[in-house]
Amino acid sequence: MCSNIFFLFFFLQALVEFMAEIRGNKVSFDQNKIVLTAGATSANETLMFCLAEPGEAFLLPTPYYPGFDRDLKWRTGVEIVPIQCTSSNDFQITSSALEEAFHEARRRKLRVKGVLVTNPSNPLGTTMTRNELNLLLSFVTEKGIHLISDEIYSGTVFSSPGFVSILEVLKDRKCENSQVWDRVHIVYSLSKDLGLPGFRVGAIYSNDDTVVSAATKMSSFGLVSSQTQYLLSALLSDKKFTRNYISENKKRLKQRQTLLVKGLEKAGISCLESNAGLFCWVNMKHLLSSNTFTAEMELWKKIVHEVKLNISPGSSCHCTEPGWFRVCFANMSEETLNLAIQRLKSFVESMNSQSHHQMLKSSRRKSLAKWVFRLSFDHDHREPEER
Ligand SMILES: Cc1ncc(COP(=O)(O)O)c(C=O)c1O
Repeated sequence: MCSNIFFLFFFLQALVEFMAEIRGNKVSFDQNKIVLTAGATSANETLMFCLAEPGEAFLLPTPYYPGFDRDLKWRTGVEIVPIQCTSSNDFQITSSALEEAFHEARRRKLRVKGVLVTNPSNPLGTTMTRNELNLLLSFVTEKGIHLISDEIYSGTVFSSPGFVSILEVLKDRKCENSQVWDRVHIVYSLSKDLGLPGFRVGAIYSNDDTVVSAATKMSSFGLVSSQTQYLLSALLSDKKFTRNYISENKKRLKQRQTLLVKGLEKAGISCLESNAGLFCWVNMKHLLSSNTFTAEMELWKKIVHEVKLNISPGSSCHCTEPGWFRVCFANMSEETLNLAIQRLKSFVESMNSQSHHQMLKSSRRKSLAKWVFRLSFDHDHREPEER
């Protein structure tokens, strides 16, 4: 028992230092305000249990990580109300989208307890701008609600603009003595930044003592084993190793992202400009047979069965516009990624030649119909156009 507490102490110390390092040491973390959980999955669910009653709501910007429907709602009875973001401004959060979501919740007679964002975003692969973070902070302050920032991808930001944690904005705005200080909660995990999803190590960071205390009690249902803590204390305390790992990882992610973006570009497919994460948000609208989610599913099925690639359709992330897909570039070898790009390219070419063929066929059909039409009216010497 005594040694468990020692493990916990050293592990938490190593973890908070690692989290600060990822944020360029612009913010520091107090290890008394952190609660360990079995991954970010458990951290997000625990926060829902702590902050909301069944039937109350959290607002989430779309598109969002599909797992949130399970993690935030299933066992807690909490509702998600989408903040509708669109491609018109690269899916950034706007003040009107926030207000609209708040009113939608009201229309549905749901009490809004907070906003949950993922920064950097899954599935967009983008970091939130300071402007968006300021907007969010002002919004939650004005409404007197909570803000959860899931920063699970914070160590994957491979190009500018860099990552800005909500904690940095809180600090810059000197919120230490205001109520919102206690209402902002961070979710973190080692699943993405260190590539250790199987270890099930996540955390909640909160300035609210009551939340820390309640979450600590709830964490009994998803503990991190002391063996894991012991091993990871050693790993995280080796700063030379972690610095090197994070910087090498970012370099490789950037190379992979460039490979994917350039490859898709050659196939006539564009991606949302991204700077973080393990995936790209890809626009395949032009390959849809119609501007509908049914057509998006048809395309997804074709890509699964014909191209043998499983990419996530935007509808699974609650995207409001059909035709967007999340393509992961980090969980395979470079050779496999090249093959995947090649297959997608051939698929697009075959679709283009099919639609060209269909256009030719339909224009031939149209001129034939016109000719038949003219012939049928020829006997009374009237031009059909005159009718
Ligand atoms: C935004 C986000 N939050 C949470 C999770 C769950 O992470 P964990 O493996 O730490 O439970 C994921 C996993 O993909 C994620 O993308």
